[in-house]
Amino acid sequence: MRIDIISVIPELMQSPFEHSILKRAQEKKLVEIHFHNLRDYALNNYGKIDDSPFGGGAGMVLMIEPIDKCITKLKTERNYDEIIYMTPDAPILNQQTSNTLSLSQNILILTGHYKGVDQRVRDLFITKEISIGNYVLSGGELAAVVLCDAIVRLLPGVLGDETSALTDSFQDNLLAPEVYTRPATYKNKEVPNVLLSGNFKKIDAWREQNALKRTKRIRPNLLN
Ligand code: ADE
Repeated sequence: MRIDIISVIPELMQSPFEHSILKRAQEKKLVEIHFHNLRDYALNNYGKIDDSPFGGGAGMVLMIEPIDKCITKLKTERNYDEIIYMTPDAPILNQQTSNTLSLSQNILILTGHYKGVDQRVRDLFITKEISIGNYVLSGGELAAVVLCDAIVRLLPGVLGDETSALTDSFQDNLLAPEVYTRPATYKNKEVPNVLLSGNFKKIDAWREQNALKRTKRIRPNLLN
């Protein structure tokens, strides 16, 4: 898989890709990440990429020309399964969307900044809009990192234990069950006995029950 990310401040996203699972996925050549600085496509030598909104109001709006130049160039080089705009006014990311996107060959992600992008960018180029939650971030960069992490960990071969992405929370619309490790007793708090029993049928049944109980208590909306 190849992921291209367009941003005003690509530096904001570098570190998460240089560690742990995202790093290993790139080293194993399971994913390529390419950052594109929107300023490289600016209108003039001063690097102009934004302007004040028509009709007035606070904040700046990312202009269509630099974004058009950048997206058009990338589209001449390869076909994209999706061109995604990260924005709070969009459907919220969930596991189903991550699963579907993880089957893509090429994804292009545009991150907004300031007041967002000229609406015509969204109308002309964007095939999918994604929010990572009902709160407003300073820009779409951190949201893009969240999206990439959610997708890349699903690529075959990325996680050491092939089954572990399948047992994540949300894969079956349930939260994951509680987990424990040594010591079996800590400050009088005991690990549930069944987990020490070695009876895997009973352990599976307990985990299923525990997942259901936790979902009912913490996120009952998932059960509807
Ligand atoms: N940009 C700013 N806030 C965001 C959010 N919640 N999700 C995606 N992109 C954003």
